[in-house]
Amino acid sequence: MLSDAGASGWTPADTLWARAQPTVAEKDPAMQGFLKIEGLSRAFSPGKPVFADVSFALDRGEFVCVIGHSGCGKTTILNVLAGLDTASSGHVFMDGREVAGPSLERGVVFQGHALMPWLTVRRNIAFAVESRWPAWTRAQVNEQVEKFVAMVGLTPAIDKKPSQLSGGMKQRVGIARAFAISPKMLLLDEPFGALDALTRGTIQDELMGIVRETQQTVFMITHDVDEAILLADRILLMSNGSEGAAGYVPGAIAETVTNTLPRDRHRAGLHHLPGYYELRNHIVDFLVTRARAGEH
Ligand SMILES: Nc1ncnc2c1ncn2[C@@H]1O[C@H](COP(=O)(O)OP(=O)(O)OP(=O)(O)O)[C@@H](O)[C@H]1O
Ligand SMILES: [Mg+2]
Repeated sequence: MLSDAGASGWTPADTLWARAQPTVAEKDPAMQGFLKIEGLSRAFSPGKPVFADVSFALDRGEFVCVIGHSGCGKTTILNVLAGLDTASSGHVFMDGREVAGPSLERGVVFQGHALMPWLTVRRNIAFAVESRWPAWTRAQVNEQVEKFVAMVGLTPAIDKKPSQLSGGMKQRVGIARAFAISPKMLLLDEPFGALDALTRGTIQDELMGIVRETQQTVFMITHDVDEAILLADRILLMSNGSEGAAGYVPGAIAETVTNTLPRDRHRAGLHHLPGYYELRNHIVDFLVTRARAGEH
């Protein structure tokens, strides 16, 4: 179902929106509110926060995507959740503790690749794995590294340096590194943006498999509406800050869309599912007509 903070005039055909399986948190209330974001704002210039009063929560095992136009503050929110940036106001709690800095409990895939250019693929990932499990032997580290490099299809490039890789390959190294540390949650900033369609599909499927298997909690930024519908349990629609008649209005989470398509959905069959087009149109309409209020 949709919980609509704005006036969309859109009504889902309830009968079509049957959900196959409950989420982890629906089955077990103890899993609720694993990540809590309360009243977050971030200003880079005084009095003009990029976004303000952003509050939402993720249950353990939940996959949440955020969609919004460039500049609305998606990466900024992710950086605050990662502990890499500090909010101007508000709080972030993960598993009951306030996020106060970066931690190996959170695996981050950055919008840029953020690899160490002087290290090979193997060493870039091993560095993270060794930090996470300092007592591991070299063989244990290597096994873990090789497993995740294989997952993203980069085994032939494992001993190459980032400068020898394409943009999509570098992005895959970032994905392997985030997954290889078995974090409590994943923060993904357009992780598939630089991948060709075929690789993108394969890695989406792999990611989905691992996430389901490990009941991983994921917060992911994407520009791709279909990707969000495929992967996310809920989709946060974010509006840009804008100058209105009454002054500056900061960016915000304008609406939270709950994905009621069956959880065991697949890429190939997505557009055949009842309710898919209504969901897709609703998100696209938001992006076209409501996301940039100041421009309409
Ligand atoms: N360190 C910074 N100093 C000043 N302004 C910043 C800084 N980081 C981000 N901004 C500004 O904050 C706004 C939001 O940036 P952010 O990177 O979060 O956007 P985004 O939604 O991730 O966009 P995109 O989809 O293009 O990645 C932009 O106007 C950007 O210029
Ligand atoms: Mg960004």
